Amino acid sequence: MVKRKQKPDKVLGHDPFEGMDLEWLDQEQDLDQEEIESAPGEAEAEPVLSTAEGPVLEQVIERKLLPAATFHFPADFKWGVATAAHQVEGNNTNNDWWDWEQEEGHIKNGYQSGLACNWWEDAEADFNRAAGLGLNALRLSVEWSRVEPRPGEFDDSALARYGEMLQGLRERNIEPMVTLHHFSNPRWLAEQGGWEDPETVALFARFACRVVKSLGEYCDLWCTINEPNVYGYTGYLEGARPPGQSDLRTAMRVIRHLLAGHAAAYREIHALQPQARVGFAHNMRIFDPANPRSPLDRRAARTVDKVYNQAILTALTRGRWTLPLGFGLAWKLRRTLDWIGLNYYTRDLVAFDRTQRQALFSRRLHANDAELLDGGYGEFYPRGMFRCLQRLARLGLPIYVTENGVPDDDDDQRPRYLLAHLHQMWRAIQRCYPVMGYYHWTLVDNFEWDDGWTLRFGLIALDPETQARTVRRSAELYARVVRANAIPSQIVDTYAPKLRAELLPG
Ligand code: BGC
Repeated sequence: MVKRKQKPDKVLGHDPFEGMDLEWLDQEQDLDQEEIESAPGEAEAEPVLSTAEGPVLEQVIERKLLPAATFHFPADFKWGVATAAHQVEGNNTNNDWWDWEQEEGHIKNGYQSGLACNWWEDAEADFNRAAGLGLNALRLSVEWSRVEPRPGEFDDSALARYGEMLQGLRERNIEPMVTLHHFSNPRWLAEQGGWEDPETVALFARFACRVVKSLGEYCDLWCTINEPNVYGYTGYLEGARPPGQSDLRTAMRVIRHLLAGHAAAYREIHALQPQARVGFAHNMRIFDPANPRSPLDRRAARTVDKVYNQAILTALTRGRWTLPLGFGLAWKLRRTLDWIGLNYYTRDLVAFDRTQRQALFSRRLHANDAELLDGGYGEFYPRGMFRCLQRLARLGLPIYVTENGVPDDDDDQRPRYLLAHLHQMWRAIQRCYPVMGYYHWTLVDNFEWDDGWTLRFGLIALDPETQARTVRRSAELYARVVRANAIPSQIVDTYAPKLRAELLPG
């Protein structure tokens, strides 16, 4: 096995990549030099031509004919990965998700989160892996049920553990982004009505305040709430997640309370930490009309887009409730975003369907020629990344891509998915859209909510039984992009040659 470079060992005293095949990391050093130093169009021709024999020579000539180019990212760009407490920590026994997992039929194949990725005990082992990939950013969440196990009772030892994690990230030159609410709630809160109850807004603000008091020393980049739309729709309309309800009005009330919770937390955080940068993570999907020539399909797509994507943005940026969230002013929500987070994965085509009253007379489908992602996760549609960024740029706020990724156990789609989406993000940056960073979902396979362990989003594969990790090729690819702070065409040729024609036409 090839020996690892020194940096992480020096800091941490042991080899974080122990037992992994690391040949690629050392090859990457050579490639990086070429990528950074060689001028486009004349990549590495000289040395190889003077020494190589026939077949190599042919290869070089062939490569010389292909135009080389490099898509550079801004110097201070943040490259990270994103996770959430319940999905990685393990043994989160005191929240509503733990209870939900115990009931048959809730999680695919009866899976449970169990030890998850064992982060509560040893997140640091994966932080080492993140540092080994060259990342300078990591998004994680704090688990409310650990910090406040009983109403009004805060657990200092839990806060200390989070402090230790954040400090550990800083020591590895990784900037933490902390999410305060990522789907899970303390059991006591769920029992007293959770986000249906307007009282929860103040309770959340109190919790946020306590967290910032303890962890503000290590973090000033806060994400209040993850995906209010996904939380509201999956838990209160589709009934697929806790508390398993199916009522549109309740779903809307819950989303309104989440937005109010965001605004209240925003103010608490700024009162304690004036320099804080506070935002939230918005899940956006692209909804295009199934038949662009059909006015009914166009209208159906617009409606679904307003309901899913726009209503929340309008509330938080203009301070106005629009349908389906309600009517009237929401002044308290205004000026509560220092940045906005985009979680982008896929798109849907929308057709008008008069039989689907519950679904706003719409039906979602995929284009006939669409490439589908594994696990029924939708269409491979990288341009959606650009379109969402374009739309968010109009809000005039800094943007972070707080999530983007694909479930792909055998890693046959992820390299192309990753490069194609990064390229679309690069295009957005070329237009001066203020994209500050990218957090890939996710570092290590984790507990994928109601899909249990059936969907594997990690750059690193995990066997949840043995906790063994195996680095996927995509991790190697991401590390190369991060180290070059760019997408050089050599990386496209190596990992996703099919993309060349699209990225480098001609
Ligand atoms: C959520 C993550 C989830 C990911 C992949 C996002 O909606 O924030 O928690 O794992 O999608 O499904």
